[in-house]
Amino acid sequence: MLLRLLLQAIFIVILPAAVQQNHPPQVIIKSPADNSEFTPAERVHYIVSVSDREDGESRFGEINKKEVLMQIANITMAGQEKRKAGDHGIDKGLIDMMRSNCLSCHSFDRQSTGPSFRQIFEQYKAQRSVLSRLEKRIQSGSRGVWGNQPMPSHPELSDDEIRKMAEWILFRAGKGEMQYYVGTEGFISFDSIRLKGSRNVYILSASYTDHGINGKNRLTGEYSVTISDSIGK
Ligand code: HEC
Repeated sequence: MLLRLLLQAIFIVILPAAVQQNHPPQVIIKSPADNSEFTPAERVHYIVSVSDREDGESRFGEINKKEVLMQIANITMAGQEKRKAGDHGIDKGLIDMMRSNCLSCHSFDRQSTGPSFRQIFEQYKAQRSVLSRLEKRIQSGSRGVWGNQPMPSHPELSDDEIRKMAEWILFRAGKGEMQYYVGTEGFISFDSIRLKGSRNVYILSASYTDHGINGKNRLTGEYSVTISDSIGK
């Protein structure tokens, strides 16, 4: 009797927790290959695959492409040649913005419903005094600063998440050696982030944050490769 009760208790308490465990997504950059070279004039075709036990597989069209980020960092330009792919992760604030709804109204370089992140970066020129204003607007919403379109409030975000988002936009969004693409596939044009006359090394980092169990315990998968253009060889 006691044993049965005990087993029942185990069943009720432990099993659902085990069943509910969220698994991290597996993100892989299929192309370009790690350590590959290309000529500077070439556009490089990139392909990212995402596999997540709960959300599905990108190859079956089960992953929302808009939630897959590709970051390109020219580490030659940033003077960080010694860095390895693994060292150059994607900023936490940017990952949180991908998880939230920010990208539905903001893009990296083009004005859409809201100003692009680069426009905001250029407007405020990394002035630390602006940080709290940006935080307040992300949290409570904004209208009339850039035009008539309103930005909704984001009461679901913690202060820490908002701080990291605002810091990324204010201090990093327009950095010259960085480029961002959204989607599992595309063509990278290095023109705007290439140091002419030298051999450039780039770190490509892809990320995807899954949807967790009922939106909780969401996990991020990341993957990086290093590639270079062949000039100077
Ligand atoms: C429904 C569309 C929409 C969404 C979603 C949205 N924004 Fe905005 N955002 C806007 C618009 C429109 C403006 C310009 C508002 C204005 O003119 O006052 C703006 C302005 C901003 C600004 C500049 C504020 C300033 O003072 O110059 C920042 C920073 C910003 N958004 C960050 C974010 C972040 C971070 C998220 C996600 C958590 C987000 N936005 C989600 C539409 C949106």
